[in-house]
Amino acid sequence: MRNIALLGSTGSIGMSTLDLVRQFPERFKIHGMVAGRNLKRFAAQIREFSPQCVAIKNAEDVPRLGQMLGKKRPEILWGERGATEVAIANEVEIVLAAIVGGAGLVPTLRAVWAGKEIALANKEALVMAGETIINAAKEKGVRLLPVDSEHSAIFQCLQGNRRDEVDKLILTASGGPFLRTPLNRLAKVTVEQALKHPNWKMGQKITIDSATMMNKGLEVVEARWEFDIQPGQIDVVIHPQSVVHSMVRYQDGSIIAQLGIPDMRIPIAYALAYPHRLKGTWKPLEPTQHRELNFLPVEKKRYPALQLAYDALKTGGSMPAVLNAANEIAVAAFLEGRVGFRDIHRIIEKTMQRHAPKHPREVDEILEVDRWAREKALSLIH
Ligand SMILES: NC(=O)c1ccc[n+]([C@@H]2O[C@H](COP(=O)([O-])OP(=O)(O)OC[C@H]3O[C@@H](n4cnc5c(N)ncnc54)[C@H](OP(=O)(O)O)[C@@H]3O)[C@@H](O)[C@H]2O)c1
Repeated sequence: MRNIALLGSTGSIGMSTLDLVRQFPERFKIHGMVAGRNLKRFAAQIREFSPQCVAIKNAEDVPRLGQMLGKKRPEILWGERGATEVAIANEVEIVLAAIVGGAGLVPTLRAVWAGKEIALANKEALVMAGETIINAAKEKGVRLLPVDSEHSAIFQCLQGNRRDEVDKLILTASGGPFLRTPLNRLAKVTVEQALKHPNWKMGQKITIDSATMMNKGLEVVEARWEFDIQPGQIDVVIHPQSVVHSMVRYQDGSIIAQLGIPDMRIPIAYALAYPHRLKGTWKPLEPTQHRELNFLPVEKKRYPALQLAYDALKTGGSMPAVLNAANEIAVAAFLEGRVGFRDIHRIIEKTMQRHAPKHPREVDEILEVDRWAREKALSLIH
């Protein structure tokens, strides 16, 4: 039985995680839960899973959630500090970090410092503070288990092989909804079109990131830190079917890949039960139902955001945090209809151009860079 602190329980990853807890009550127990503003869903989850501690994003929502829950309820904490307290509670053994965006950084990092094992979905935290998180994990002897399907695939493909014989990590990307849209129409695509991912059902931010391919860019940075590998050894290929979740090529030219249906419960279960594999209610992959698996090179003009991520990684220091913050602002502005789809990468690029890179060591310095980049990106939008 593992005691879990679930950060981001009301989101897509959060709900998939709770589904696993329902399927395997003898293995997993929710000790604490954190959510943002979806109080109705959060209240229902608290009633069902009876966590010992909970936190929400805003102090002003605490009385309303309290009213919804009635007398029999845990103490309701709030804000970054509340989320952190839930993550580092004594009884917690593993933290499923699934808050979206930079808001997940501090609770995740503090959980590492507290020696908690981390199942990491919140890739933005690693993009902002990869070196800091990895160094803290090494120092504390904490295991970081990837939840992202691509990183889970690579993690699996690395097992039983020698790391010094790895040639390349090859991340697969579906190409999103605009893989075949004529380039001259991309400027006019709507929010609704961008939110229609061909294979995965996910939260809004990551779905837009998949359409621009910034998601793959963030994953390149994530892989750099998670697997301690040089950026030049990380490739991206388009694989429209999303069956091969990623691959590792070794120095003898052989490729080892992990395949599965696109269902996030599989990599989440692998992270939570590692090294065991669970027999869940999802369908197994039937090879004969996937007769065609295609692999295509990434068209740079279609997905400029991917190159920005490689550039940020090359510059290093604070630049990936700037990339991430500007992306969050640009995506939010696109979702609100304030900028066009093709403005997203332009806003990120301009914000990066205006940044004088630093080498932040402390988390406060990283958060300062994050604030600067958000303000800069917002001013560019205005
Ligand atoms: N979805 C996927 O299939 C998938 C796959 C791989 C990786 N990931 C990564 O996993 C993370 C979560 O993705 P998602 O798709 O599950 O996103 P999502 O559906 O938008 O859910 C985000 C979660 O974070 C919570 N949240 C947001 N801001 C918060 C704050 N300041 N304090 C506390 N909670 C906050 C939200 O709460 P409310 O909804 O209550 O406001 C929600 O529970 C992202 O980093 C994403 O890149 C997702």
